Amino acid sequence: MTELDDLAELAKRRGFFFPSNEAYGGTAGFYTYGPVGATLKRNLEDVWRDVYVRAMDNMELEAPTIMPEAVFEASGHLEGFDDMIVECAECGGTHRADHLVEDAVADVEDAEALGTDRVAELIVEHGIDCPSCGAALAGEPVDEFNLMFGTNIGPGSAAPGYLRPETAQGIFVEFPRLKEYARGQLPFGVAQVGRAYRNEISPRRALVRVREFTQAELEHFVDPERDEPPIDRVADVEVPLYSAEAQHAADGGVETYTIEAALEEGVVTSEWVAYYLGRSIDFYERVGIDMDRFRYRQHLSGERAHYAVDCWDAETELGGHWIEVTGFAYRSDYDLSKHGEYSGEEFTLFRQYDEPRTVERATVDPDMSYLGPEFGGAAEAVADALASLARRDRSAFESAARRAAEESSGDAPRDGDEVTVEVDGEAYSVPVEETGFAVEERTESGEHIVPHVVEPSFGVDRLVYSVLVHAHGTDVVDDEERSFLRLPAELAPTTVAVFPLMARDGLDDRAWDVAARLRGEGLRVAYDDTGNIGRRYRRQDEVGTPYCVTVDYDTLEDDTVTVRERDSTEQARVAVDDLADAIDRLVAGETLADL
Ligand code: ATP
Ligand code: GLY
Repeated sequence: MTELDDLAELAKRRGFFFPSNEAYGGTAGFYTYGPVGATLKRNLEDVWRDVYVRAMDNMELEAPTIMPEAVFEASGHLEGFDDMIVECAECGGTHRADHLVEDAVADVEDAEALGTDRVAELIVEHGIDCPSCGAALAGEPVDEFNLMFGTNIGPGSAAPGYLRPETAQGIFVEFPRLKEYARGQLPFGVAQVGRAYRNEISPRRALVRVREFTQAELEHFVDPERDEPPIDRVADVEVPLYSAEAQHAADGGVETYTIEAALEEGVVTSEWVAYYLGRSIDFYERVGIDMDRFRYRQHLSGERAHYAVDCWDAETELGGHWIEVTGFAYRSDYDLSKHGEYSGEEFTLFRQYDEPRTVERATVDPDMSYLGPEFGGAAEAVADALASLARRDRSAFESAARRAAEESSGDAPRDGDEVTVEVDGEAYSVPVEETGFAVEERTESGEHIVPHVVEPSFGVDRLVYSVLVHAHGTDVVDDEERSFLRLPAELAPTTVAVFPLMARDGLDDRAWDVAARLRGEGLRVAYDDTGNIGRRYRRQDEVGTPYCVTVDYDTLEDDTVTVRERDSTEQARVAVDDLADAIDRLVAGETLADL
């Protein structure tokens, strides 16, 4: 069995996670977390919140998972959130065409960047067959398939909606309100931990590619001209980088840089992205990722999402495959500008100048007694379009005014003095003298800017899966093979398990008391009196419980218990009165020898 098969078996048997709806034949791409898995996942999310919300003093919100179509028209997901699909003519199975090519062609690592036509050619050139039935896929069309799940909001089909494919949009659309909570001051961050949905073409590798999953995302809004990340804090942090250049080079590989060197040498171009790459190393270590099986990989140019300027992924190695667990993207002003444009609301923030400035502003004051008769019902919209054009591009009016002057002197052809605007796809031309165009000098104290966004986007399920795979190990204890999970104590579903040596002679009652006392101290405690003590240790080792406490006959005499540590299997005797404190100290990093 491979390490992933081992883990899948353990996950099912011990209640970490398992395929959903198996009573009805199962539904590909959906998993249920069992009793220990749900706790592990929540503990991981709590660590994430501790790092990215509490320690960084960011806000957190919880938005709906269904959003109206207009949101995804603006965000670009309706148009561009696609994967490449190829359908088998023989069995009807659908597959990610780019993944088939990556699996079959040794030197193609990022087939998505090649485009559908080239991927279709590669399927022919390499004789790629359908993974489900073995029929040839050569000649089958490769198309783009939009990954969003659609629905209707309310009865009927008048109000289409979508299950959000990323939690981020729930933050962006609320920016006009969120900026008030931030008292109009940049930079500020807003986090969200919640469900996202993608109708993946080929769900696979357990929790790695599912159709409903949890993201933990931070949207950090910054002023691109004024705000800089506190790079000093991370300058010396070492990060394993697999740059785009190294991916293109025949002998390229991962190289370790300090954040300072990565920026100086231009390997990472965005300071903000570099900051988050540095800041996140501690997080991955803290949740138990094996850092020898971890790297940051830069996106190749064709791979970047439609909104991203510079993008790196954190990847973990699982069963010989590198899997993206986090995307770090510099999204620029893309999202807020789009929502501003599509909604007509203010997705800007006021930037105060250090000193008031005298600036020239172009204004219009159209003559409605001309526009009304000329354009009828469209007159108001034409006036608005003229005002908007004057703000964006006053040269359109200035050159029309220049031509008007030339016309009056007879040097230019007639009709060159018009300014043309578009309303609902139709062009309207207005003579410049009817627009009331003027340039005025004004003293202004600041300007409205669209903030930029830096985004670390974590996939919680892929992290949970990576942590489990990396934590799983076997060794030999008392001449018997042992399977165990080396989970960090703060992630472990149970922190301490309490056993009576025998379920009799009052040992069980005493053990219940000890367990209740530890629970009263806020610890996650399990009680187990079934089977022999060796079996009970093994059961806890396999769900990653870091400490086991045994109540034995000596306990009845001297009120001490045995504390046994999972990884070393060493034991120490501790007074029941000191037990909660001892467990807290162990969780904080002390060893049994320190007690
Ligand atoms: P991939 O290329 O593997 O499909 P992606 O580039 O589409 O991933 P992003 O859009 O950057 O992923 O999403 C942010 C994070 O959400 C990812 O780093 C990943 O951890 C998680 N994620 C994305 N899609 C899935 C999925 N189908 N199942 C589980 N987690 C996912
Ligand atoms: N918010 C990043 C992504 O899900 O694509």
